[in-house]
Amino acid sequence: MKIKGFEINKIYTENCVDTMANMPEEIVDMVMTSPPYDDLRNYKGFEFPLDDIIKGLYRVLKEGGVIIWVVADKTENGSETGTSFKQALRFKELGFRIHDTMIYYKNNPMPTTGKRYHQHFEYMFCFSKDTPKTFNPITEPTKYNGLANMKNRGKEGRLNYKKVERTTEKKVGNVFFYSVGGGISTKDKIAYKHPAIFPEKLVYDQIITWTNKGDVVYDPFMGSGTTAKVAHLLGRKWIGSEISEEYTEIANKRLEKYLKNNFLFTLNGE
Ligand SMILES: C[S@@+](CC[C@H](N)C(=O)[O-])C[C@H]1O[C@@H](n2cnc3c(N)ncnc32)[C@H](O)[C@@H]1O
Repeated sequence: MKIKGFEINKIYTENCVDTMANMPEEIVDMVMTSPPYDDLRNYKGFEFPLDDIIKGLYRVLKEGGVIIWVVADKTENGSETGTSFKQALRFKELGFRIHDTMIYYKNNPMPTTGKRYHQHFEYMFCFSKDTPKTFNPITEPTKYNGLANMKNRGKEGRLNYKKVERTTEKKVGNVFFYSVGGGISTKDKIAYKHPAIFPEKLVYDQIITWTNKGDVVYDPFMGSGTTAKVAHLLGRKWIGSEISEEYTEIANKRLEKYLKNNFLFTLNGE
């Protein structure tokens, strides 16, 4: 399948800067990604020209498109590097809005030693090109679900409530909780050949929030293919870049069975 002559639903095995240079302008609705964190992991062919990446993303993203950028810092000589903040500020300097600083909270992180609390979270920045054009918020029942607020107050100034038939919902908060690790982040065993995979549920939550069916989702650091899998199963189009041939191969193997079927999305085989 092509958009303006550009092949989509495919992983380009190359530096994402090159993929973006070949893409027509403004064809992407959402970017869902996690860049390499400092030099925490020795990815094959690691290369990270941040400014070129941000400028490329600005060019290929539609007006109102968003980038979900999941990132954390390495601790070096006793201090966190601050790379996550530096990156966020650079996005702002180069024209994006920092629309929301969300948190990806790991329920079960690797325990850490030393004079620090356990590292439970990563940043999940939402950068936007102007005001986000799509927002389908995830909701949860309110505390007073099924109770309606009567306008009058009781004698002590307390609000009175009465039971009603409707359910009331509110947007969830911007801290997202996930369990991670073998057999939990995904049921696809092959994905664990990559050292830093997304939990599928995180990708699911973000894609349904910021896109509609038929939209295009791009992951410039595709790794094991999580973004492609979830985007496809949610009826979105997708594009990926991955610099390592080995990881592209893993991702393509992982995706094979999903791409040839158009079955409805099931998370973790449920
Ligand atoms: C944090 S991992 C992404 C993992 C992915 N979210 C998943 O669920 O599997 C980052 C990936 O970016 C790739 N990478 C690093 N620099 C790159 C570049 N300039 N262009 C494309 N891919 C790159 C690495 O090889 C690595 O697989």
